[in-house]
Amino acid sequence: MSKDIVMETQNLVKKFGDGVTAVDDVSFKIEKGEVVGYLGPNGAGKTTTIKIMTNLIKPTAGHACINGIDVNRHPKEALKSVGSLIGVPGVYSYLTPTELLRYFGKLYGLPKQRIDERIKEVLNMVNLSDWKDSKVGTFSTGMERRLAIAKSIFHEPSILILDEPVLGLDPEGIKEMRELIKSFQEKDVTVFLSSHLLDEVSKVCDSVIFLYDGRVVEKDSVERIDEIMKQYRLIDVELLEDIRKSDLKDMKKIEMIDDVKKIDDSRIRVTKNDGDPGTTAEMLRKIVENGFDIVSYTPEKSDLEDFYVSLIEEKEGAR
Ligand SMILES: Nc1ncnc2c1ncn2[C@@H]1O[C@H](COP(=O)(O)OP(=O)(O)OP(=O)(O)O)[C@@H](O)[C@H]1O
Ligand SMILES: [Mg+2]
Repeated sequence: MSKDIVMETQNLVKKFGDGVTAVDDVSFKIEKGEVVGYLGPNGAGKTTTIKIMTNLIKPTAGHACINGIDVNRHPKEALKSVGSLIGVPGVYSYLTPTELLRYFGKLYGLPKQRIDERIKEVLNMVNLSDWKDSKVGTFSTGMERRLAIAKSIFHEPSILILDEPVLGLDPEGIKEMRELIKSFQEKDVTVFLSSHLLDEVSKVCDSVIFLYDGRVVEKDSVERIDEIMKQYRLIDVELLEDIRKSDLKDMKKIEMIDDVKKIDDSRIRVTKNDGDPGTTAEMLRKIVENGFDIVSYTPEKSDLEDFYVSLIEEKEGAR
């Protein structure tokens, strides 16, 4: 028996007036309870797809369906069970989470008692109970984002569509968002989230759809992404002095470093514990602070764009 397909696009196309084809014949199917990463570099068409899926814009051709209902034809019915987070959350700086959620509860037409219950539940879920009566204007970006999620799950949707949920968050905020997404997964909520961070997606998703230039390059399991990610964690570092065994031990103590291997007398291969190029500079600085002089460093792979190109070439070569 086939699993329930809860989200589906069929040959979705979106052209903008100025000749840009933002989404170009995109088809995919998402099963109930899946956590899917919609991954692609800037301008790939992620937000455009999500806007179609939530009926903020209409497709030029093709269909987007939720629970078998065409979103752009019957938006109210199709989006009943959907919660979404798209773009920068509105500015409600003068309101408190309680006031804001009460307002949305009323919009959803929920009875007062249910609204009060639900406010407690969702604020607890997103870890904002202690701030329920603080003004949103005093919140960090991570707290604001969590409040926006609280708002999007208020009506207990079974599908969550999130556009770049970790964008702009600090490492702590990213970690909290990751845990929140995992808690939805446990509740069998289907999550569709876009990101341009391969590493981030590999940490929370079951499967990944790669989008490039408006087209789906591949849909794959997250295990393969982990394999690919390894290449982004390897960096060869050449040091001024010859390396001793004890040096390797010292380097392994550096928090961003998973493993260190000696390649030859003065060169080592470091495995970082994440694939984020941003932490490479920090790691190199730590190596220097530990008394090593760096002559050069070469990331094994550094550019995600290269990765997409190689995926496309691989696919076209197989045809
Ligand atoms: N309203 C619009 N009018 C014209 N072109 C648009 C519009 N919205 C998006 N585009 C173009 O469509 C393409 C896809 O944009 P989209 O925002 O969907 O990409 P994205 O994958 O979300 O990128 P990012 O990672 O930067 O958020 C881009 O070339 C963009 O410039
Ligand atoms: Mg976008």
